[in-house]
Amino acid sequence: MKTQLLSAQCSTDLTQAAELLKAGEQVAVPTETVYGLAADASNPDAVAGIFTAKGRPANHPLIVHLGDVASITEWATPIPDEAYKLANAFWPGPMTLLLPRAEHVSPVVTGGLDTIGLRVPAQPVLLDLLATHQLAVAAPSANPYKKLSPTTAEQVMHGLGGKIAAVIDGGPCQHGLESTIVDLTKRPFRVLRAGPITVSELSAVLGETVDAPEQHDSVVPGNVGSHYQPNTRLQMVAADLSDLPAPHPEKRAALLHFGEAPTRDDLVCIAMPDDAARYGQALYHQLAQADQLGVDEIWLAQPPHGEAWLAVHDRLRRAVS
Ligand code: TXA
Ligand code: MG
Repeated sequence: MKTQLLSAQCSTDLTQAAELLKAGEQVAVPTETVYGLAADASNPDAVAGIFTAKGRPANHPLIVHLGDVASITEWATPIPDEAYKLANAFWPGPMTLLLPRAEHVSPVVTGGLDTIGLRVPAQPVLLDLLATHQLAVAAPSANPYKKLSPTTAEQVMHGLGGKIAAVIDGGPCQHGLESTIVDLTKRPFRVLRAGPITVSELSAVLGETVDAPEQHDSVVPGNVGSHYQPNTRLQMVAADLSDLPAPHPEKRAALLHFGEAPTRDDLVCIAMPDDAARYGQALYHQLAQADQLGVDEIWLAQPPHGEAWLAVHDRLRRAVS
């Protein structure tokens, strides 16, 4: 299959994307978090095609992306008031709510679970596409299973080119890390995956404590430990580079570092931003770049800790080999 590269700037390209989706095809779309691999959520065959393209196990549930808050009633029931409080505060945006699924929802979408993940994405072109065409799309990150999530259309092509109908190029993603997932199906409410919206922000809106994710949490299929991995072995080093392995005559490494680069011929040095939001935006992209250099290892300077860095550390824990 030839994968078409469509432009988010071009209205005929976007009409074509909508037609492909309505026809049951899989189309990669930009979101404000990472690129997603979308298919019509009301068409189980179309959704099944996502699993085939990604090589993803069938019991891993998908997030359904909607064009407005009101549409959640078509996918979830009953909906607690807290869902509306969070939706009004953070949607459109990088937050996924887990709710009890509506009866008609295909088990293909939810991996057979009784719950469903819903989100109204903020990326304007995608949001407009969903709202204008009254579409709901199931969309996991647009990467082959267990690989790095793509934050550019080019990266989607690299991983899934030839396996899907089209990619809409909407430029680099704003956040660069996947949405915060909040489980509202049982109390206490809990974040299952750290993301751009923090536990403090969620708790402040609800006026009650939302529990933080547990490390290496795998309460659902799909939230697995080894995930988000580059092909090249990835290793953490101290932030001040004091424990960098000595140069090796035949080996080269890529180094993702803070501050000044060390002067060493065996290293390709990539400077990382030192604020959490910009670091998150750059992380997958720079890991993918490093991965394509053909080096023997990727070394990554340990980022700072603190709430703003939680999502970064969560992804890195799963990315190190
Ligand atoms: O930012 C994002 O969330 C991106 C963009 C494309 O929206 N999507 C994304 O999807 O990261 P995916 O499939 O790569 O990750 C979704 C995670 C998986 O770990 C899955 O297990 C979990 O959400 N999930 C989805 N539905 C669930 C459910 N009903 N119950 C528990 N976990 C669920
Ligand atoms: Mg994913």
